[in-house]
Amino acid sequence: MTTTDPDRTREPRFTINGERRSFGNAPAHTTALAWLRSNRLTGAKEGCAEGECGACAVLVATSDGDGSAWTAVNSCLVPMAALDGAEVVTSEGLAEGPELHPVQAAMAAAGGSQCGYCTPGFVCSMTAEFYRPGRSIDAATHADAQTESGDVDGLPAADHEHGPNGFDLHALSGNLCRCTGYRAIRDAAYSLGAPGDEPLANRRNAPAPTPEPFELRRGDVSFTRPASLDEATALLAEHDDAVLVSGSTDWGVEVNIRARRAKRIIALDRLPELTGVSFDDDAIMIGAATTLSDVERELDGRVPLLAALFPQFASRLIRNRATLGGNLGTGSPIGDSPPALLALDAVLVLASSEGRREVPLAEYFTGYRASVRRPDELIAAIRIPLPLARLTGFHKIAKRRFDDISSVAVGFAVDVEEGVVSRARIGLGGVAATPVRALRTEEFLTGRPWNRRTLGEAARILGAEGTPMSDHRASSNYRSIMLANALLKFGAANTVIEEVDA
Ligand SMILES: Cc1cc2nc3c(=O)[nH]c(=O)nc-3n(C[C@H](O)[C@H](O)[C@H](O)COP(=O)(O)OP(=O)(O)OC[C@H]3O[C@@H](n4cnc5c(N)ncnc54)[C@H](O)[C@@H]3O)c2cc1C
Ligand code: FES
Ligand code: FES
Repeated sequence: MTTTDPDRTREPRFTINGERRSFGNAPAHTTALAWLRSNRLTGAKEGCAEGECGACAVLVATSDGDGSAWTAVNSCLVPMAALDGAEVVTSEGLAEGPELHPVQAAMAAAGGSQCGYCTPGFVCSMTAEFYRPGRSIDAATHADAQTESGDVDGLPAADHEHGPNGFDLHALSGNLCRCTGYRAIRDAAYSLGAPGDEPLANRRNAPAPTPEPFELRRGDVSFTRPASLDEATALLAEHDDAVLVSGSTDWGVEVNIRARRAKRIIALDRLPELTGVSFDDDAIMIGAATTLSDVERELDGRVPLLAALFPQFASRLIRNRATLGGNLGTGSPIGDSPPALLALDAVLVLASSEGRREVPLAEYFTGYRASVRRPDELIAAIRIPLPLARLTGFHKIAKRRFDDISSVAVGFAVDVEEGVVSRARIGLGGVAATPVRALRTEEFLTGRPWNRRTLGEAARILGAEGTPMSDHRASSNYRSIMLANALLKFGAANTVIEEVDA
Protein backbone atom coordinates (compact mmCIF):
# COMPACT_ATOMS: atom_id res chain seq x y z
CA MET A 1 0.00 0.00 0.00
CA THR A 2 1.37 3.40 -0.89
CA THR A 3 0.06 6.78 -0.02
CA THR A 4 -1.35 7.08 -3.51
CA ASP A 5 -3.43 3.92 -3.31
CA PRO A 6 -6.86 5.38 -4.15
CA ASP A 7 -8.86 2.27 -3.17
CA ARG A 8 -8.08 2.61 0.48
CA THR A 9 -8.70 6.32 0.85
CA ARG A 10 -11.98 6.88 2.64
CA GLU A 11 -13.64 8.32 5.71
CA PRO A 12 -13.48 6.19 8.86
CA ARG A 13 -16.83 4.64 9.86
CA PHE A 14 -18.04 3.37 13.20
CA THR A 15 -21.05 1.96 14.98
CA ILE A 16 -21.88 4.15 17.92
CA ASN A 17 -24.63 3.10 20.29
CA GLY A 18 -25.93 0.83 17.52
CA GLU A 19 -25.97 3.55 14.85
CA ARG A 20 -23.68 3.63 11.81
CA ARG A 21 -21.79 6.92 11.71
CA SER A 22 -19.02 8.33 9.59
CA PHE A 23 -16.14 10.59 10.51
CA GLY A 24 -17.38 13.61 8.56
CA ASN A 25 -15.04 16.49 7.95
CA ALA A 26 -13.20 16.51 11.28
CA PRO A 27 -9.40 17.00 11.24
CA ALA A 28 -7.39 13.76 11.08
CA HIS A 29 -5.99 14.09 14.62
CA THR A 30 -9.44 14.53 16.26
CA THR A 31 -9.68 12.52 19.46
CA ALA A 32 -12.63 10.21 20.04
CA LEU A 33 -13.78 12.47 22.90
CA ALA A 34 -13.74 15.60 20.77
CA TRP A 35 -15.55 13.80 17.95
CA LEU A 36 -18.25 12.36 20.23
CA ARG A 37 -18.88 15.65 21.96
CA SER A 38 -19.10 17.58 18.72
CA ASN A 39 -21.59 14.97 17.49
CA ARG A 40 -24.00 15.55 20.36
CA LEU A 41 -22.79 12.67 22.50
CA THR A 42 -21.79 14.78 25.47
CA GLY A 43 -22.02 12.07 28.16
CA ALA A 44 -18.26 11.50 28.04
CA LYS A 45 -16.57 14.48 29.68
CA GLU A 46 -13.18 16.11 29.48
CA GLY A 47 -11.63 16.32 32.93
CA CYS A 48 -7.92 16.31 32.23
CA ALA A 49 -7.39 15.37 28.55
CA GLU A 50 -4.38 13.29 29.61
CA GLY A 51 -5.72 9.92 30.71
CA GLU A 52 -5.75 10.64 34.45
CA CYS A 53 -9.40 11.08 35.40
CA GLY A 54 -11.54 8.65 33.35
CA ALA A 55 -14.38 11.15 32.86
CA CYS A 56 -14.08 10.44 29.13
CA ALA A 57 -14.34 6.61 29.34
CA VAL A 58 -16.36 4.82 26.66
CA LEU A 59 -16.77 1.14 25.76
CA VAL A 60 -15.36 -0.55 22.68
CA ALA A 61 -16.13 -4.11 21.54
CA THR A 62 -12.78 -5.92 21.41
CA SER A 63 -11.86 -9.42 20.40
CA ASP A 64 -12.05 -12.13 23.06
CA GLY A 65 -11.43 -15.50 21.47
CA ASP A 66 -14.49 -16.41 19.42
CA GLY A 67 -16.59 -13.73 21.03
CA SER A 68 -16.03 -10.17 22.15
CA ALA A 69 -15.57 -8.21 25.34
CA TRP A 70 -16.58 -4.69 26.30
CA THR A 71 -13.40 -2.77 26.97
CA ALA A 72 -13.35 0.66 28.58
CA VAL A 73 -10.90 3.16 27.11
CA ASN A 74 -9.98 6.82 27.60
CA SER A 75 -11.66 8.52 24.65
CA CYS A 76 -9.57 11.66 25.23
CA LEU A 77 -6.42 9.81 24.10
CA VAL A 78 -7.65 7.62 21.24
CA PRO A 79 -7.71 9.20 17.78
CA MET A 80 -11.27 8.81 16.44
CA ALA A 81 -9.80 7.51 13.18
CA ALA A 82 -8.24 4.61 15.13
CA LEU A 83 -11.78 3.45 15.95
CA ASP A 84 -12.61 2.88 12.27
CA GLY A 85 -14.86 -0.19 12.03
CA ALA A 86 -15.28 -0.37 15.81
CA GLU A 87 -18.46 -0.69 17.83
CA VAL A 88 -18.50 1.97 20.48
CA VAL A 89 -20.95 2.39 23.33
CA THR A 90 -21.07 5.62 25.29
CA SER A 91 -22.96 6.27 28.51
CA GLU A 92 -25.90 7.41 26.34
CA GLY A 93 -26.10 3.94 24.78
CA LEU A 94 -26.38 1.89 27.97
CA ALA A 95 -30.04 2.34 28.88
CA GLU A 96 -32.76 0.60 26.89
CA GLY A 97 -35.34 3.33 26.41
CA PRO A 98 -36.50 4.45 29.84
CA GLU A 99 -35.01 1.33 31.44
CA LEU A 100 -31.69 2.07 33.15
CA HIS A 101 -28.83 -0.33 32.54
CA PRO A 102 -28.14 -2.46 35.67
CA VAL A 103 -24.94 -0.52 36.31
CA GLN A 104 -26.71 2.83 36.05
CA ALA A 105 -29.48 1.55 38.34
CA ALA A 106 -26.89 0.36 40.89
CA MET A 107 -25.11 3.74 40.83
CA ALA A 108 -28.40 5.57 41.33
CA ALA A 109 -29.53 3.25 44.15
CA ALA A 110 -26.20 3.54 46.00
CA GLY A 111 -25.98 7.33 45.59
CA GLY A 112 -22.82 6.91 43.53
CA SER A 113 -23.30 10.20 41.69
CA GLN A 114 -23.36 13.72 43.11
CA CYS A 115 -22.32 16.49 40.70
CA GLY A 116 -22.32 13.76 38.02
CA TYR A 117 -19.29 14.95 36.09
CA CYS A 118 -17.38 11.71 36.61
CA THR A 119 -20.43 9.44 36.44
CA PRO A 120 -20.58 8.57 32.71
CA GLY A 121 -16.92 7.52 32.89
CA PHE A 122 -17.42 5.49 36.06
CA VAL A 123 -20.47 3.83 34.57
CA CYS A 124 -18.53 2.79 31.45
CA SER A 125 -15.59 1.37 33.44
CA MET A 126 -18.03 -0.41 35.76
CA THR A 127 -19.98 -1.82 32.81
CA ALA A 128 -16.79 -3.30 31.33
CA GLU A 129 -16.09 -5.07 34.62
CA PHE A 130 -19.76 -6.08 34.98
CA TYR A 131 -19.43 -7.99 31.69
CA ARG A 132 -15.89 -9.28 32.25
CA PRO A 133 -15.79 -12.99 31.42
CA GLY A 134 -14.67 -14.89 34.49
CA ARG A 135 -16.07 -12.37 36.98
CA SER A 136 -18.53 -14.96 38.25
CA ILE A 137 -15.68 -17.48 38.65
CA ASP A 138 -13.86 -14.86 40.68
CA ALA A 139 -17.05 -14.40 42.68
CA ALA A 140 -17.10 -18.11 43.53
CA THR A 141 -13.44 -17.95 44.58
CA HIS A 142 -14.20 -15.00 46.78
CA ALA A 143 -17.26 -16.65 48.25
CA ASP A 144 -15.01 -19.58 49.33
CA ALA A 145 -12.51 -17.22 50.89
CA GLN A 146 -15.28 -15.17 52.46
CA THR A 147 -15.92 -17.63 55.27
CA GLU A 148 -12.26 -17.32 56.29
CA SER A 149 -11.87 -13.58 55.96
CA GLY A 150 -15.25 -12.44 57.28
CA ASP A 151 -16.94 -9.18 56.44
CA VAL A 152 -15.18 -5.99 55.37
CA ASP A 153 -17.10 -2.82 56.23
CA GLY A 154 -20.28 -4.83 56.38
CA LEU A 155 -19.60 -6.31 52.94
CA PRO A 156 -18.80 -9.99 52.70
CA ALA A 157 -15.75 -9.30 50.50
CA ALA A 158 -12.83 -11.69 50.28
CA ASP A 159 -10.29 -8.89 50.10
CA HIS A 160 -10.35 -5.12 50.09
CA GLU A 161 -10.02 -4.89 46.32
CA HIS A 162 -12.72 -7.39 45.25
CA GLY A 163 -16.41 -7.51 45.96
CA PRO A 164 -18.37 -10.61 46.93
CA ASN A 165 -19.61 -10.53 43.32
CA GLY A 166 -16.04 -10.85 42.02
CA PHE A 167 -15.96 -7.16 41.04
CA ASP A 168 -12.33 -6.10 40.74
CA LEU A 169 -11.99 -2.54 42.04
CA HIS A 170 -8.90 -2.08 39.84
CA ALA A 171 -11.40 -1.76 36.99
CA LEU A 172 -12.09 1.71 38.41
CA SER A 173 -8.45 2.66 39.08
CA GLY A 174 -8.46 5.16 36.19
CA ASN A 175 -11.62 6.98 37.31
CA LEU A 176 -11.51 9.90 39.73
CA CYS A 177 -14.42 11.45 41.63
CA ARG A 178 -14.09 14.60 43.70
CA CYS A 179 -17.54 14.40 45.34
CA THR A 180 -18.59 11.00 46.60
CA GLY A 181 -15.60 9.81 48.59
CA TYR A 182 -15.86 6.58 46.54
CA ARG A 183 -17.71 4.56 49.20
CA ALA A 184 -21.06 4.84 47.39
CA ILE A 185 -19.40 3.99 44.07
CA ARG A 186 -17.82 0.91 45.59
CA ASP A 187 -21.18 -0.08 47.10
CA ALA A 188 -22.76 0.18 43.64
CA ALA A 189 -20.00 -1.96 42.12
CA TYR A 190 -20.27 -4.63 44.82
CA SER A 191 -24.06 -4.79 44.52
CA LEU A 192 -24.03 -5.85 40.85
CA GLY A 193 -25.39 -9.28 40.04
CA ALA A 194 -24.69 -11.38 36.97
CA PRO A 195 -25.49 -9.92 33.54
CA GLY A 196 -28.95 -10.86 32.30
CA ASP A 197 -30.57 -10.96 28.88
CA GLU A 198 -29.36 -7.48 27.90
CA PRO A 199 -28.25 -6.47 24.39
CA LEU A 200 -24.73 -5.71 25.60
CA ALA A 201 -24.48 -9.09 27.34
CA ASN A 202 -25.69 -10.92 24.25
CA ARG A 203 -23.40 -8.94 21.95
CA ARG A 204 -20.42 -10.70 23.57
CA ASN A 205 -21.36 -13.97 21.83
CA ALA A 206 -20.44 -12.60 18.41
CA PRO A 207 -16.90 -11.73 17.28
CA ALA A 208 -15.66 -8.14 17.49
CA PRO A 209 -15.36 -6.29 14.18
CA THR A 210 -12.07 -6.91 12.40
CA PRO A 211 -10.13 -3.83 11.32
CA GLU A 212 -10.07 -2.90 7.64
CA PRO A 213 -7.10 -1.10 6.10
CA PHE A 214 -7.84 2.49 5.10
CA GLU A 215 -6.30 5.89 4.72
CA LEU A 216 -7.89 9.11 5.92
CA ARG A 217 -6.56 12.22 4.19
CA ARG A 218 -6.95 15.82 5.17
CA GLY A 219 -4.83 18.00 2.88
CA ASP A 220 -1.23 16.91 3.46
CA VAL A 221 -2.13 15.07 6.69
CA SER A 222 -2.96 11.37 6.69
CA PHE A 223 -3.92 8.59 9.10
CA THR A 224 -3.27 5.12 7.69
CA ARG A 225 -4.24 1.70 8.96
CA PRO A 226 -2.08 -0.72 6.97
CA ALA A 227 -3.34 -4.23 6.26
CA SER A 228 -0.16 -6.00 7.29
CA LEU A 229 3.25 -5.59 8.86
CA ASP A 230 4.78 -5.60 5.37
CA GLU A 231 2.59 -2.66 4.40
CA ALA A 232 3.43 -0.85 7.63
CA THR A 233 7.19 -1.23 7.11
CA ALA A 234 6.89 -0.30 3.42
CA LEU A 235 5.11 2.90 4.43
CA LEU A 236 7.71 3.60 7.08
CA ALA A 237 10.50 3.08 4.56
CA GLU A 238 8.80 5.62 2.30
CA HIS A 239 8.09 8.13 5.09
CA ASP A 240 10.54 7.73 7.93
CA ASP A 241 9.16 10.87 9.59
CA ALA A 242 5.80 9.12 10.11
CA VAL A 243 4.53 8.76 13.68
CA LEU A 244 3.70 5.20 14.68
CA VAL A 245 0.68 5.00 16.95
CA SER A 246 -0.28 1.91 18.92
CA GLY A 247 -2.50 2.51 21.97
CA SER A 248 -2.02 6.29 21.77
CA THR A 249 -1.85 6.58 25.56
CA ASP A 250 1.38 8.50 25.17
CA TRP A 251 0.81 10.08 21.75
CA GLY A 252 -2.68 11.24 22.82
CA VAL A 253 -1.12 13.28 25.64
CA GLU A 254 1.33 14.81 23.16
CA VAL A 255 -1.57 15.80 20.90
CA ASN A 256 -3.77 17.22 23.67
CA ILE A 257 -1.30 18.83 26.04
CA ARG A 258 1.70 19.64 23.85
CA ALA A 259 -0.35 20.33 20.71
CA ARG A 260 1.84 18.00 18.67
CA ARG A 261 0.59 17.18 15.21
CA ALA A 262 1.99 14.74 12.67
CA LYS A 263 1.73 14.90 8.92
CA ARG A 264 1.51 11.13 8.71
CA ILE A 265 0.28 8.61 11.26
CA ILE A 266 0.63 4.86 10.84
CA ALA A 267 -1.71 2.92 13.14
CA LEU A 268 -0.18 -0.27 14.51
CA ASP A 269 -2.94 -1.26 16.93
CA ARG A 270 -4.85 -4.35 15.80
CA LEU A 271 -2.13 -5.23 13.23
CA PRO A 272 -2.35 -9.06 13.32
CA GLU A 273 1.43 -9.69 13.16
CA LEU A 274 1.99 -7.34 16.11
CA THR A 275 -0.68 -8.69 18.44
CA GLY A 276 -0.90 -11.77 20.63
CA VAL A 277 1.34 -13.78 22.91
CA SER A 278 2.91 -17.11 21.94
CA PHE A 279 4.87 -19.68 23.89
CA ASP A 280 7.48 -22.23 22.91
CA ASP A 281 10.08 -24.19 24.87
CA ASP A 282 12.74 -21.49 24.62
CA ALA A 283 10.88 -18.23 24.78
CA ILE A 284 7.69 -16.25 25.15
CA MET A 285 6.94 -13.84 22.29
CA ILE A 286 4.79 -10.80 23.00
CA GLY A 287 3.48 -8.84 20.02
CA ALA A 288 4.55 -5.21 20.43
CA ALA A 289 1.02 -3.90 19.80
CA THR A 290 -0.74 -6.28 22.21
CA THR A 291 -2.49 -4.22 24.87
CA LEU A 292 -1.11 -4.63 28.37
CA SER A 293 -4.51 -5.94 29.54
CA ASP A 294 -4.34 -8.66 26.86
CA VAL A 295 -0.72 -9.50 27.71
CA GLU A 296 -1.70 -9.76 31.38
CA ARG A 297 -4.64 -12.02 30.54
CA GLU A 298 -2.72 -14.24 28.12
CA LEU A 299 0.32 -14.67 30.37
CA ASP A 300 -2.04 -15.43 33.25
CA GLY A 301 0.74 -15.19 35.83
CA ARG A 302 3.27 -17.29 33.88
CA VAL A 303 5.84 -14.49 34.11
CA PRO A 304 5.62 -13.51 37.78
CA LEU A 305 7.81 -10.44 37.28
CA LEU A 306 5.37 -9.03 34.73
CA ALA A 307 2.41 -10.13 36.85
CA ALA A 308 3.87 -7.94 39.61
CA LEU A 309 4.35 -5.04 37.18
CA PHE A 310 0.92 -4.87 35.51
CA PRO A 311 -1.20 -3.77 38.49
CA GLN A 312 1.30 -0.98 39.13
CA PHE A 313 1.25 0.27 35.54
CA ALA A 314 -1.11 3.24 35.14
CA SER A 315 -4.78 2.20 35.42
CA ARG A 316 -7.02 -0.42 33.85
CA LEU A 317 -8.28 2.21 31.38
CA ILE A 318 -4.74 2.96 30.22
CA ARG A 319 -3.68 -0.71 30.19
CA ASN A 320 -6.65 -1.46 27.94
CA ARG A 321 -4.87 0.46 25.17
CA ALA A 322 -1.20 0.82 26.19
CA THR A 323 1.35 -1.54 24.66
CA LEU A 324 4.92 -2.66 25.31
CA GLY A 325 5.90 -1.40 21.84
CA GLY A 326 4.65 2.05 22.81
CA ASN A 327 6.29 1.96 26.22
CA LEU A 328 9.66 1.09 24.69
CA GLY A 329 8.96 3.34 21.68
CA THR A 330 8.82 6.44 23.89
CA GLY A 331 12.40 5.72 25.00
CA SER A 332 11.45 7.20 28.36
CA PRO A 333 13.97 6.59 31.16
CA ILE A 334 11.06 6.23 33.59
CA GLY A 335 8.91 3.80 31.61
CA ASP A 336 7.97 0.84 33.79
CA SER A 337 8.45 -2.02 31.38
CA PRO A 338 12.19 -1.58 30.62
CA PRO A 339 13.43 -2.36 34.17
CA ALA A 340 11.25 -5.49 34.23
CA LEU A 341 12.22 -6.55 30.70
CA LEU A 342 15.92 -5.88 31.36
CA ALA A 343 15.76 -8.19 34.36
CA LEU A 344 14.10 -10.79 32.13
CA ASP A 345 16.93 -10.49 29.54
CA ALA A 346 14.34 -9.54 26.91
CA VAL A 347 15.24 -9.20 23.26
CA LEU A 348 13.48 -6.77 20.91
CA VAL A 349 12.48 -7.88 17.43
CA LEU A 350 12.81 -4.89 15.11
CA ALA A 351 11.14 -4.99 11.70
CA SER A 352 11.71 -2.94 8.57
CA SER A 353 11.10 -3.41 4.86
CA GLU A 354 14.54 -5.06 4.78
CA GLY A 355 13.54 -7.77 7.24
CA ARG A 356 13.88 -8.42 10.93
CA ARG A 357 16.72 -8.19 13.40
CA GLU A 358 16.95 -8.88 17.10
CA VAL A 359 18.53 -6.56 19.65
CA PRO A 360 18.91 -7.40 23.33
CA LEU A 361 17.07 -4.72 25.31
CA ALA A 362 20.29 -4.18 27.29
CA GLU A 363 21.87 -2.88 24.03
CA TYR A 364 18.82 -1.00 22.72
CA PHE A 365 18.95 2.40 24.46
CA THR A 366 21.83 4.68 23.48
CA GLY A 367 20.95 7.96 25.23
CA TYR A 368 18.05 10.08 26.45
CA ARG A 369 15.06 8.91 24.37
CA ALA A 370 17.53 7.53 21.81
CA SER A 371 17.99 3.95 20.66
CA VAL A 372 19.61 1.78 17.99
CA ARG A 373 16.23 1.58 16.21
CA ARG A 374 16.50 3.13 12.74
CA PRO A 375 13.79 5.57 11.58
CA ASP A 376 12.55 2.93 9.11
CA GLU A 377 12.17 0.29 11.84
CA LEU A 378 9.42 -0.49 14.29
CA ILE A 379 9.32 -2.75 17.31
CA ALA A 380 7.49 -5.90 16.23
CA ALA A 381 7.80 -8.13 19.28
CA ILE A 382 9.46 -8.68 22.62
CA ARG A 383 11.07 -12.06 23.21
CA ILE A 384 11.51 -13.28 26.77
CA PRO A 385 13.95 -16.20 26.96
CA LEU A 386 13.06 -19.25 29.05
CA PRO A 387 13.61 -20.61 31.63
CA LEU A 388 12.76 -17.69 33.87
CA ALA A 389 14.78 -16.90 36.98
CA ARG A 390 13.37 -18.52 40.12
CA LEU A 391 13.28 -15.36 42.26
CA THR A 392 11.81 -12.25 40.71
CA GLY A 393 10.35 -8.98 41.88
CA PHE A 394 9.27 -5.58 40.62
CA HIS A 395 9.48 -2.53 42.85
CA LYS A 396 7.96 0.75 41.70
CA ILE A 397 8.48 3.74 43.92
CA ALA A 398 5.97 6.49 43.15
CA LYS A 399 3.96 9.02 45.11
CA ARG A 400 0.69 7.11 44.63
CA ARG A 401 0.22 3.36 44.71
CA PHE A 402 -1.75 3.31 41.47
CA ASP A 403 -1.87 5.41 38.32
CA ASP A 404 1.38 7.27 38.88
CA ILE A 405 4.71 7.66 37.11
CA SER A 406 7.72 6.03 38.79
CA SER A 407 10.36 7.97 40.65
CA VAL A 408 12.38 4.77 40.54
CA ALA A 409 11.53 1.29 39.27
CA VAL A 410 13.57 -1.87 39.77
CA GLY A 411 13.15 -5.35 38.27
CA PHE A 412 14.96 -8.26 39.93
CA ALA A 413 15.58 -11.74 38.52
CA VAL A 414 17.89 -13.96 40.56
CA ASP A 415 18.76 -17.65 40.56
CA VAL A 416 20.16 -19.23 43.70
CA GLU A 417 21.66 -22.71 43.66
CA GLU A 418 22.58 -24.41 46.92
CA GLY A 419 22.50 -21.08 48.70
CA VAL A 420 24.74 -19.29 46.19
CA VAL A 421 23.64 -16.74 43.60
CA SER A 422 24.25 -18.34 40.21
CA ARG A 423 22.81 -15.50 38.13
CA ALA A 424 21.48 -12.02 38.80
CA ARG A 425 19.78 -9.52 36.53
CA ILE A 426 18.65 -6.14 37.83
CA GLY A 427 16.93 -3.57 35.61
CA LEU A 428 16.64 0.05 36.74
CA GLY A 429 14.42 2.94 35.65
CA GLY A 430 14.58 6.55 36.79
CA VAL A 431 18.28 6.64 37.69
CA ALA A 432 19.93 7.57 34.39
CA ALA A 433 19.17 9.04 30.98
CA THR A 434 18.12 5.56 29.86
CA PRO A 435 16.84 2.44 31.60
CA VAL A 436 19.99 0.54 32.68
CA ARG A 437 21.15 -2.77 34.11
CA ALA A 438 22.77 -2.61 37.56
CA LEU A 439 25.89 -4.34 36.26
CA ARG A 440 28.10 -3.76 39.30
CA THR A 441 25.48 -5.13 41.67
CA GLU A 442 24.79 -8.12 39.43
CA GLU A 443 28.50 -8.92 39.31
CA PHE A 444 28.86 -8.52 43.07
CA LEU A 445 25.94 -10.85 43.79
CA THR A 446 26.98 -13.61 41.38
CA GLY A 447 28.81 -16.41 43.17
CA ARG A 448 28.08 -15.03 46.63
CA PRO A 449 25.90 -16.68 49.28
CA TRP A 450 22.29 -15.46 49.25
CA ASN A 451 22.28 -14.07 52.76
CA ARG A 452 21.80 -10.86 54.67
CA ARG A 453 25.45 -9.86 54.59
CA THR A 454 25.61 -10.20 50.80
CA LEU A 455 22.34 -8.32 50.42
CA GLY A 456 23.46 -5.53 52.75
CA GLU A 457 26.66 -5.01 50.77
CA ALA A 458 24.88 -5.40 47.44
CA ALA A 459 22.28 -2.81 48.52
CA ARG A 460 25.05 -0.28 49.12
CA ILE A 461 26.45 -0.95 45.65
CA LEU A 462 22.98 -0.76 44.08
CA GLY A 463 22.35 2.58 45.82
CA ALA A 464 25.36 4.00 43.97
CA GLU A 465 24.38 2.67 40.51
CA GLY A 466 23.26 5.07 37.82
CA THR A 467 23.35 8.86 38.00
CA PRO A 468 19.98 9.73 39.51
CA MET A 469 18.94 13.35 39.28
CA SER A 470 16.73 15.53 41.42
CA ASP A 471 13.45 16.70 39.94
CA HIS A 472 9.87 17.43 40.99
CA ARG A 473 9.26 13.70 41.61
CA ALA A 474 12.22 12.88 43.87
CA SER A 475 15.71 13.98 44.88
CA SER A 476 18.73 12.05 43.66
CA ASN A 477 19.50 11.03 47.24
CA TYR A 478 15.98 9.66 47.72
CA ARG A 479 16.23 7.70 44.48
CA SER A 480 19.53 6.13 45.58
CA ILE A 481 18.12 5.17 48.97
CA MET A 482 15.04 3.66 47.30
CA LEU A 483 17.23 1.49 45.07
CA ALA A 484 19.05 0.08 48.07
CA ASN A 485 15.80 -0.45 49.99
CA ALA A 486 14.22 -2.22 47.02
CA LEU A 487 16.94 -4.88 47.11
CA LEU A 488 16.59 -5.33 50.88
CA LYS A 489 12.80 -5.72 50.47
CA PHE A 490 13.26 -8.14 47.60
CA GLY A 491 15.65 -10.20 49.74
CA ALA A 492 13.27 -10.15 52.69
CA ALA A 493 10.41 -11.35 50.49
CA ASN A 494 12.46 -14.28 49.25
CA THR A 495 12.95 -16.26 52.39
CA VAL A 496 15.85 -18.47 51.30
CA ILE A 497 18.16 -16.03 53.08
CA GLU A 498 20.34 -17.74 55.68
CA GLU A 499 21.44 -15.93 58.82
CA VAL A 500 25.22 -16.35 58.52
CA ASP A 501 26.31 -12.93 59.57
CA ALA A 502 25.24 -12.86 63.21
C1 LIG B 1 -2.53 8.53 32.81
C2 LIG B 1 -1.32 7.82 32.31
C3 LIG B 1 -0.63 6.98 33.15
C4 LIG B 1 0.51 6.33 32.70
N1 LIG B 1 1.16 5.51 33.57
C5 LIG B 1 2.27 4.87 33.16
C6 LIG B 1 2.94 3.99 34.05
O1 LIG B 1 2.51 3.74 35.18
N2 LIG B 1 4.10 3.43 33.61
C7 LIG B 1 4.59 3.67 32.36
O2 LIG B 1 5.65 3.13 32.02
N3 LIG B 1 3.95 4.47 31.49
C8 LIG B 1 2.80 5.07 31.85
N4 LIG B 1 2.14 5.89 30.97
C9 LIG B 1 2.68 6.12 29.62
C10 LIG B 1 2.06 5.24 28.52
O3 LIG B 1 0.81 4.75 28.90
C11 LIG B 1 2.98 4.06 28.20
O4 LIG B 1 4.22 4.53 27.75
C12 LIG B 1 2.38 3.09 27.17
O5 LIG B 1 3.02 1.85 27.26
C13 LIG B 1 2.48 3.62 25.75
O6 LIG B 1 1.95 2.62 24.88
P1 LIG B 1 1.01 3.05 23.67
O7 LIG B 1 0.79 1.83 22.86
O8 LIG B 1 -0.19 3.75 24.13
O9 LIG B 1 2.00 4.05 22.90
P2 LIG B 1 1.64 5.18 21.84
O10 LIG B 1 1.11 6.38 22.55
O11 LIG B 1 0.84 4.64 20.73
O12 LIG B 1 3.11 5.50 21.30
C14 LIG B 1 4.11 6.01 22.17
C15 LIG B 1 5.40 6.22 21.38
O13 LIG B 1 5.93 4.97 20.98
C16 LIG B 1 6.02 4.88 19.55
N5 LIG B 1 5.58 3.53 19.19
C17 LIG B 1 4.37 2.95 19.44
N6 LIG B 1 4.38 1.67 19.05
C18 LIG B 1 5.60 1.43 18.53
C19 LIG B 1 6.22 0.28 17.95
N7 LIG B 1 5.60 -0.89 17.85
N8 LIG B 1 7.49 0.40 17.52
C20 LIG B 1 8.15 1.56 17.65
N9 LIG B 1 7.63 2.68 18.19
C21 LIG B 1 6.37 2.60 18.63
C22 LIG B 1 5.12 5.96 19.01
O14 LIG B 1 5.57 6.44 17.78
C23 LIG B 1 5.21 7.02 20.10
O15 LIG B 1 6.37 7.79 19.92
C24 LIG B 1 0.98 6.54 31.39
C25 LIG B 1 0.27 7.37 30.52
C26 LIG B 1 -0.87 8.01 30.97
C27 LIG B 1 -1.62 8.88 30.02
S1 FES C 1 -10.46 13.48 30.16
FE1 FES C 1 -9.43 12.75 31.92
S2 FES C 1 -8.91 10.73 31.30
FE2 FES C 1 -9.77 11.55 29.54
S1 FES D 1 -19.91 12.94 41.42
FE1 FES D 1 -18.87 14.83 41.24
S2 FES D 1 -16.93 14.29 40.46
FE2 FES D 1 -17.86 12.41 40.93
